Amino acid sequence: MRIDIELTDADQQHALRADARAGLTAEAKWLPPKWFYDKYGSELFERITTLPEYYPTRAERAALAAHATDIATVTGARTLVELGSGSSEKTRLLLDALHQRGHLDRFVPLDVSESALRDAATALDRDYPGLTVHGIVGDFTRHLDRIPTSADRLVAFLGGTIGNLVPTERAAFLAALRAVLRPGEWLLLGTDLVKDPATLVAAYDDAQGVTAEFNRNVLHVLNRQLGGDFDPAAFRHVAHWDVEREWIEMRLLAERDMTVHLADLDLVVPFAAGEQLRTEVSAKFRRPGVTAELAAAGFELTHWWTDPADRFAISLARSR
Ligand code: SAH
Ligand code: TRP
Repeated sequence: MRIDIELTDADQQHALRADARAGLTAEAKWLPPKWFYDKYGSELFERITTLPEYYPTRAERAALAAHATDIATVTGARTLVELGSGSSEKTRLLLDALHQRGHLDRFVPLDVSESALRDAATALDRDYPGLTVHGIVGDFTRHLDRIPTSADRLVAFLGGTIGNLVPTERAAFLAALRAVLRPGEWLLLGTDLVKDPATLVAAYDDAQGVTAEFNRNVLHVLNRQLGGDFDPAAFRHVAHWDVEREWIEMRLLAERDMTVHLADLDLVVPFAAGEQLRTEVSAKFRRPGVTAELAAAGFELTHWWTDPADRFAISLARSR
């Protein structure tokens, strides 16, 4: 097993400083979602995936279970690359199917969370003898060119994580991915689908408050990494369905007037009672939109599969 570190602690610190300064001094405050995922944040996300309200993981797993053999047959992939791999738990369905077909020899998970990547890579290395596991600690918006150029690749991007990018970021990401693939190589993309707002909002605002804690964790990250004095308990978790844009927007609402200091940035951040900080979007999709976004980046959608309840889709697309 091998793990390449394309993101050092120093790079991360530098990027976090820039993001925090830009986002917290903006007119409408925001923070990029990748900062949720320190060790504790990655653990909280794994708990989210088991919550009764959070259907996407179970729905995507059902779609993968039903179609993993098709995916292996159509792609004949030798290398499985996974972006934003996290625990790579559902990915085992793909590894099993590709292995059965007899061609699989390499697995390349890439994630910004070193702890999640190490745990997953170690477990897979143990459970799949004969598989070469080559992990990359990196950012999928910056480090796609570090993916090894091995033969016959299938790139999996699961969990609906593409929906955490806004449309311009998605277009840039898909084009950059297309640019590192050879014609005929494959993308397997997991997208959550538009459905009734009550189901969507519940998935991002669970009764036990795990998602709320996950959302507030970004404030703990800023406190620890940038010498901040946020009082996370003074921020309320908000999950808002934006009907026009068809995305869930995660926010942290200041419950009172506050002045927050980030010592390492020499920055003072005022919050008015009721002010909201945007921490993430999670876009929901429809088939025509996914087809068009893929086509615009040079991918041809060849298969579209959903779970039995049509909650979540996995798309298989070939690079042109
Ligand atoms: N694929 C897993 C995890 C989804 S959660 C699943 O389907 O359950 C999103 C994952 O993407 C987390 O593991 C997080 O650490 C990672 N991530 C978020 N932003 C990232 C970025 N910019 N680059 C690389 N990984 C990122
Ligand atoms: N990719 C996941 C999603 O959009 C990430 C996620 C799940 C998430 N629950 C969350 C992000 C809560 C922020 C807050 O579904």
